[in-house]
Amino acid sequence: MPNINELLANSRVVPLVQADDPAVAVETSRALAAGGLTVVEVVFRTDRALECLKAVAEQVPEMIAGAGTVLTAAQAEAALASGAKFIVSPGLDDAVVAVARKHGVPVYPGIVSPSELQHAYNLGLDTVKFFPASIAGGIPMLKALSSVFRTMRFMPTGGVSPGNLADFLAVPAVLACGGSWLTPKDAIDAGDYKAITKLAAEAVSIAKKARA
Ligand code: 3PG
Repeated sequence: MPNINELLANSRVVPLVQADDPAVAVETSRALAAGGLTVVEVVFRTDRALECLKAVAEQVPEMIAGAGTVLTAAQAEAALASGAKFIVSPGLDDAVVAVARKHGVPVYPGIVSPSELQHAYNLGLDTVKFFPASIAGGIPMLKALSSVFRTMRFMPTGGVSPGNLADFLAVPAVLACGGSWLTPKDAIDAGDYKAITKLAAEAVSIAKKARA
């Protein structure tokens, strides 16, 4: 089992893949990998999300595939049975966390307040998603939260873009940023996978500079 936190800390960018068609999810993930990204989050927002996740996990070995928008324990079980290497949720749900724990898989639940973060801390989590990052206080909120929860790492998601990625990544408590800007629907609908590779490469370059 790879150390997912380490992979996230290296990749620093987690693209969302939302697809109705497993072949599209696979092509999108390959395009992201061609741009240099190594981790992908397949979101449970379509009827065929589980098939999409399974296809990416099986057919794109160069990518570590996780499941996103996981709302229930049953979805978490299904995602793990389909090859998810990590679980991401928009909010914090004890039952979802428990499923991931039972399987020894990392889970990144979304938090937006000190109370939710304290709950996550007391569940033994060391990394959470901060969602929706840009409208829930952005970087000032992240800095305020991390000044109190000093060991917590964050994955800001929601409103992250090439314009603010470097600023988010410069916050020491930020492990990686997630987002859908790397997989625009119009490019996918047009079959323009080169555009996705270009966006991924741009993000990789921003992340490299942010680290330096
Ligand atoms: C998520 O589920 O993480 C968010 O929908 C991502 O937000 P974004 O679309 O603004 O990147």
